[in-house]
Amino acid sequence: MPIEVVRASAPVGAEIHGVNLVAPLSPEGFAEIERLFNEHGVVYFRRQFLSPGQLLDFTGHFGEQALNTFAETHGVPGHPGVVVVSNIEQGGRDIGVKRAGERWHSDMCYTAKPPRGTILCAHEVPVQDGLTLGDTCFAATHAAYDGLPDVMKQRIEGLRAVFDFAGRVRAVPVTPAQRAAFPPVTHPLVRTHPFTGRKCLYVMRDDCTGIEGMDAGAAQLLIAALADHIIRPEYVYRHRWEPGDVLLWDNCTVQHMAIQDYDLPLRRLMYRTTFAADQPPM
Ligand code: SIN
Repeated sequence: MPIEVVRASAPVGAEIHGVNLVAPLSPEGFAEIERLFNEHGVVYFRRQFLSPGQLLDFTGHFGEQALNTFAETHGVPGHPGVVVVSNIEQGGRDIGVKRAGERWHSDMCYTAKPPRGTILCAHEVPVQDGLTLGDTCFAATHAAYDGLPDVMKQRIEGLRAVFDFAGRVRAVPVTPAQRAAFPPVTHPLVRTHPFTGRKCLYVMRDDCTGIEGMDAGAAQLLIAALADHIIRPEYVYRHRWEPGDVLLWDNCTVQHMAIQDYDLPLRRLMYRTTFAADQPPM
């Protein structure tokens, strides 16, 4: 069956039809998926229901895995690299990362080489009286850059943003081991996408704690202004999950946020993998 693509009515997001991710992927089939991934920033396939092992196999096509910060504490036993994202509790403990990604962010931006992409496979999706909850929103950082006035593009050219895992307020206190593992890093505030060459804004509230060479007050003002600009409605694709969805996003082209509008007894269960970038942001 030939691959068909249906674009979302947003600058990112496309559904790919005609692929069975459970079956082995040919090199040509994967090349087409990768091309669509680079072009659309967020791509998804319905009705796949990948097991953790199958999800790892699919992720492996993109190259080396990037171990997520939560892999040790919330990994699937026997499948290192597959993180459970869920609100489900079993025997009095959380089976996965709860309330993951509830603020706008780009995965592991506080590391020297953030992952190129992330994959989520939905197994359980909360539904209340026929209404699906727990959507995920994706903001197009290239469209947001393109939409800036020229004077702002000139102002931010060459700036580097500071990302400090320990420097922001977190729901769970930062451990000494995390502090040692994630020292502050800087990345270009305007990144060039390694495959498309498009310029993308790489700045967000919380994780981004400053701008190199700029005083704290001015930096916070600029970070807030750009962060708000990126998530304007015209740049956002909102994904309504169905059980069996496999969705991939590009951590340069998009920022994302998971909507936490559900709670137990409504259950949400996702498996997540991340794959590495070849190089640090440029
Ligand atoms: C995440 O930020 O990785 C979680 C996204 C989601 O659960 O929808």
